[in-house]
Amino acid sequence: MTDAAGLAALAAGHLDLITAPFTLPRSRILVFRSEDGDGVRVHTSEYEKPLDECRLLDGVTVTDAAGQVLPVSDVLPWRIAFGSSPAWVAGPSTSSGTQTGPPTLTFDGPAALSIAGPEGTRVELRHPDGRIETLPLTPAGIRLRLGAGRTAVTEDGDHAAALAACEAQWLEWFAKCPRVRTDLQPMTAFCWWVLGANIVELPSLGDARAVVPSKIGYVGLWQWDAYFIAVGLRHGDPELAREQLDIAFRFAGADGQLPDVVHEQGILASSDDLPESDRATLRRAGSQIADPSQPVPLTKPPLAAWALRRVLEVEDAPDWARWQLDRVIRSQDWWFAASDLDGDGMPEYGHPYSSGLDDSPVFDGPIPTAAPDLGSYLVCQDREIAGLLARYEPDADATRFVTRAQRTQELLLRMWDATSSRFIAFGAGEQIRSDTVLGLLPLRTGTLPDDVRDALRTALDDPERYALAWGLPTVAASDPDFSPERMWRGPIWINTSALVAEGLEASGFADRARELREQTVRLVVHGGGPHEYYNPHTGLKAGRATTAFGWSAALFIDLAVRLTEPDPHS
Ligand code: GLC
Repeated sequence: MTDAAGLAALAAGHLDLITAPFTLPRSRILVFRSEDGDGVRVHTSEYEKPLDECRLLDGVTVTDAAGQVLPVSDVLPWRIAFGSSPAWVAGPSTSSGTQTGPPTLTFDGPAALSIAGPEGTRVELRHPDGRIETLPLTPAGIRLRLGAGRTAVTEDGDHAAALAACEAQWLEWFAKCPRVRTDLQPMTAFCWWVLGANIVELPSLGDARAVVPSKIGYVGLWQWDAYFIAVGLRHGDPELAREQLDIAFRFAGADGQLPDVVHEQGILASSDDLPESDRATLRRAGSQIADPSQPVPLTKPPLAAWALRRVLEVEDAPDWARWQLDRVIRSQDWWFAASDLDGDGMPEYGHPYSSGLDDSPVFDGPIPTAAPDLGSYLVCQDREIAGLLARYEPDADATRFVTRAQRTQELLLRMWDATSSRFIAFGAGEQIRSDTVLGLLPLRTGTLPDDVRDALRTALDDPERYALAWGLPTVAASDPDFSPERMWRGPIWINTSALVAEGLEASGFADRARELREQTVRLVVHGGGPHEYYNPHTGLKAGRATTAFGWSAALFIDLAVRLTEPDPHS
């Protein structure tokens, strides 16, 4: 069995400082390779701010006694080494006061870096205001305190202590990494690094640790990202998994609505809270929802009870469960009380963001949108609630949830179009005929009539529609709106693939579910990491997708653990 250092070494193979920056759990500091490849640059990680606006140091370059630049030569989760002189490589490089190893950069706590090198080496710091500082390095090192207002101040360091503490912190994290099938262990180690790397503190929540979707692109706790992330985290750190759900559920409105995002400045729960940059993008896209006349609630799909059950599966916490279950029930009731906008009993998405599939062609038409994924999430969530109540509140009456699930399932089946053998969505009452993954999610109910269930299985096996080379696209390849690169309009996402695999299993297609799970982990390995979304033809990262992405990492781990367990169906 691989130990923590071995797992860290497996993860280190992916730390290219381009798609995966050097960082530390709880820290907002990100270190990337600089464009010329020789040195590094330092950024902070902030909610809805592009990386370019979050610059701390435009360059950190290390030189030897002869003035030669020492390029980045080796990266471990706890340090970057510069230069590859054989003399340095031979020497011990950690924890002794005298540095005989190469110059190294490490963290000194979450808000500082430490850099040290043998006598004669130097470092050049390029500040964003144009200032250049050149300083001699010593084995004791220089501490770079990175503070408010995006400043970098130099002070005396204690490099050996910083390095030892940073190494210890990462080794503690890797000690919790799930052990899986040998062929999936290297990527699992990297995905575990991604989850640790994406931990940030949200100052408004004391020392609560939010595992964000990406310190590069999405710095906040997004509601349904938190569910998927918790489902992966539970395998190694159930306490941190519970913390994600606690933060996600903590900011429910008085009416039970869960917010779309919890971030350092507050929450995003209504279109009025959207950052200006977001509205500008919507306006540029000509979107009707950029400036709604009334504020529209923003949330994410009702998978809260699903996440709660799965987190509790690995470690029971009854009092905590009862507390959270109450919030989940109120959020489920919110959908029926406040988001059934036409009053027909089937709730709608009032905004594409609430579906989580923001750019899906389903939302090209008028809104609000009654959609088969939402209907099936609601059916499943009412049943999950009934199951959780039976377990944690045995005296409570769960009948209303069971009855409502039945009623919602009937309404869901009215979205089935027997002529085209597809579920279709309705935008402001009009049929939306896009052929998308939303229409496959009703498989998760496990209670579809046989002909409907079989038609969805046929769609999944059809190479013209969903059976593409690298997996399950978010829009059928034969749909006129299919694009292999555009977000939610064709690329493969790990969460929709994992959810459809569950649906296949729930609908009696266990072998096909396993095949889809195997295909999904294969894609992440082939694609080189847990990216945000993948081109279904090449199996590579789509051009605009974020890297080191939380739910892709978490669900890879969850799938790897599941595929490692003996197959209950064989
Ligand atoms: C994008 C996705 C959404 C996700 C968010 C954070 O907006 O469309 O589903 O929750 O990013 O990852």
